Order: sequence, then C-alpha cells, then structure tokens
Amino acid sequence: MAKLERANFGSKLGVILATAGSAVGLGNIWRFPYMAGQNGGAVFILIYIFCVLLLGIPCMISEFIIGRHGQANTARSFRKLSGGTPWMLIGYMGVLTGFLISSYYAVVSGWCLEYVWASLIGKLQGDPDYIKTYFETFSQDPIKPVFWTFLILLATYLIIENGVRDGIERASKLMMPTLFILLLVIVVASCMLPGGEKGIEFLFKPDMSKFTGDVFLAALGQSFYSMSIAMGCICTYASYFSKETNLAKSATQIGVIDFVVALLAGLVIFPAAFSVGVNPDSGPSLIFITLPNVFQQAFGDLAILGYIISILFYALLSMAALTSLMSLHEVSTAFLEEELGTTRKRAAMMVTIACIALGTICSLSLGPWSHHQLFRMTVFDLFDFVTGQLFLPIVGFLTCIFIGWFVPHKIVKDEFTNNGTLRGGSMFYFYIFLVKYVCPVCILFIFLHQLGLI
Ligand code: PHE
Repeated sequence: MAKLERANFGSKLGVILATAGSAVGLGNIWRFPYMAGQNGGAVFILIYIFCVLLLGIPCMISEFIIGRHGQANTARSFRKLSGGTPWMLIGYMGVLTGFLISSYYAVVSGWCLEYVWASLIGKLQGDPDYIKTYFETFSQDPIKPVFWTFLILLATYLIIENGVRDGIERASKLMMPTLFILLLVIVVASCMLPGGEKGIEFLFKPDMSKFTGDVFLAALGQSFYSMSIAMGCICTYASYFSKETNLAKSATQIGVIDFVVALLAGLVIFPAAFSVGVNPDSGPSLIFITLPNVFQQAFGDLAILGYIISILFYALLSMAALTSLMSLHEVSTAFLEEELGTTRKRAAMMVTIACIALGTICSLSLGPWSHHQLFRMTVFDLFDFVTGQLFLPIVGFLTCIFIGWFVPHKIVKDEFTNNGTLRGGSMFYFYIFLVKYVCPVCILFIFLHQLGLI
C-alpha cells in the first residue's frame, strides 16, 4: 500500500528537468568556467567530457538504482539494500552531507539574489575597485547576506512544501527552460562582442601541452560536484521515478544537459572576458568581482545592454541555484518526513529553520565572526572543506563499492534493465565494470589529491 501512495514525478520530462535542475547549479555557471580558465580551457573541457562519461554517469546510475529500488529517502534506501549491515551508514552520511551543503549553498545562492537586485537598481556600476569593495563589503555585512539567505530558503520552502509534483516538478518545468533561454540570449550577446572569438578559441582549441595530472583530477572533481553526486539528492529524486524510467538513458541525458549548460556558461564568460582583455582565471571571485566589470566594459558602448545582460545573468544564476537548493532541501525533508513519520510540511519547516540557522552562522563567519576559526578555517570554509573534499568523495567511493561489490548483481541488473524489459544487456556489464573498478580508483585519486597527498 505504502508504495502506491508514494509521490512520484508525473512525466519523463519532469524526471529529466527536475534532476537536471539539481545538477545544473552554481557549479556549472560559477565553478566550471573558472576551473576551465585555470586549467587550460579546451584541454580541461575534453577531459571533463571523458570524466562525465566514465565517472559521473555511472555514479549517477548507481544512485538512481539505490533510490528507485528503495522507494524511500536516501538513508532508508541504503538501509533496505544493505540488509541492516554497516553499509547503511553511507545513506546517513549522504543525508548529512546534503544537509550541511544546503546551508552554505543557500548563502552563495543568496549572493546571487543580491546581485540581481544590485544590477536592477544600477549599483553594480563603477570602476573595478568599487566592484571589488562592493562584494567584500556585502559578503561581510552582518545583515544583508543573511536576509538574502533567508529569502532564498523561504522560496525553497514554499516550493518543497507543495510536494513532488506540484512543487519540485512544476518549478523545474518552469525554471529550467527559462534558464536555458536566458543563457542562450546572453551567449549570443557575448559571442558577438568584438574580440570575443579569442574566448571561443580558448574554449575549443585544445593546447595539449597544458595536459597535466592536476588538470585531470580537477576535471574529475568538478564532474562529480556538477552532477550532484554523493549528496543524497540523486538518490532521493530517483525514489520518485516510475518503474518505467530508463535509468541509464536518463542519467546520460542529464549528464549531457549539465555539460551543455556549463559549456554555454563558458561561452558567456570567456568571449566577454577576452573582449576586454581580462584573464578568466581569477578563481571563485570570477562571477562576483570580475564579471560585473567585464559586462560593464564589454557592453560599454551600449550601457543599457550591459545593464540588461547583468540582470538576466544573475537572474539565471539564482534560478540555477534555486533548483539545486530544492534538491538539497528535499534530501533532508524526505528523511525527516519518513523517519519521524511527520507531515511533509512540518518536515520541510524543520529543515528550513535548521538551514536558516546554519546558513546565518556560515554567512556571519565571513564577516563579524571571521575570527572564530576551527583548524584555521572559518565555518563557511570548514563546511565547504568537510562536505566537498571529505564527505563527497567518501560517500561516492563507498556507494560505488556498495553497488559494485555488495548488492547482488541481480538486483542491480533488474533496476538497470527495468526487469529485463529494456535492451542493452551488454551495457550493463560495461556499467558494472566501471562501478566496480574504474570509479572507485578515480575517486580515490581525487580524494588523495584534494587532501594534498598526491
Ligand atoms: N550540482 C550542483 C551544481 O552544479 C551542486 C550540487 C551538488 C547541488 C550537490 C546539489 C547537490 O551547482
């Protein structure tokens, strides 16, 4: 009975757009371009494609299998498949990772909202020093970023509270196409800038001399983060898939969408940056400090265009962040709802309040509380480190080992082939090979690299 009552996505398109909504986020538009910028442009992109195919997609399929088989929140889905063995702890760790990440992800998402507002009222105009000071003053302010964090979490709550179909699916169906269209408009504007072709060349013409082990590991880490793997999101969403959903095909489609959006973000940033002679390798500050300058200068002759592009860009960034935040929020909401046996509304409320509290701490840790440090890191950096560099690879690694070596292959195959109704049996063996050997080894390398051990 309980199975029949479980919420699910209403259509194939809903499945793809909601899951792609989770994957497409700040990672694509903010992180991917600067990572590509720092790691040789086209070479990084080539390796990245390879990583998505060999690592990202198989890991996503594994989470799909666990979630859809379990028909429950991430912790319970792992528990069911583990038969009560300690493997079930991976699920709990996934939920915890998702929860911790949602708090600091909400802070950065809030920054995007501030930038929509600042663009709108014309405050993002001025010389480079002004823009830099603007970002620093804003992000260290005790009130403003907290306000925006609160606002974006409120928006997330209002969507999540409405349930899987009327909340998540509906919002994704509205926001994802809008995001895509906005992105295309800005890509065209950016690529038409004089001198923009140098940016396009940087993105597409590989210089193999830039290929190093570091670039490879950076691409691996990015593919993982960008596809929302190991945070419970994919697993939770998969529990809302129908028995007919083709898991391997969906994962491939989502991987492609995620990559295309990242590439398009590159096609916004590189041509604009090259057209004004700015090097797009400035790291995390690229979007909040470099880009407002770039937009201003690039469209300087037609200030109104710069003004509009800036608003559109930050609006699309906020949308991308919101759909990812929804998926992170849903991990904890589904967990509390099912484990505490409470209503969805109440569970969502608890998660929202907890995220606001933690988000506030994260935000304040960049300003007034920056002297409170642990292991020489602010709370914000600590969250980033613990979730992104420790939990994420650990959960990803263990998930592969779990599916590849522990869960009976019959169960995995039945999910992969929808009980034998799908063709592509030989693909299954390729998938299992990747999950058993290739993925764990690659993840282990990323992990050791991130810790500075190799
Ligand atoms: N994939 C998201 C991005 O690209 C980040 C994210 C990670 C979101 C994990 C949800 C879960 O920004």
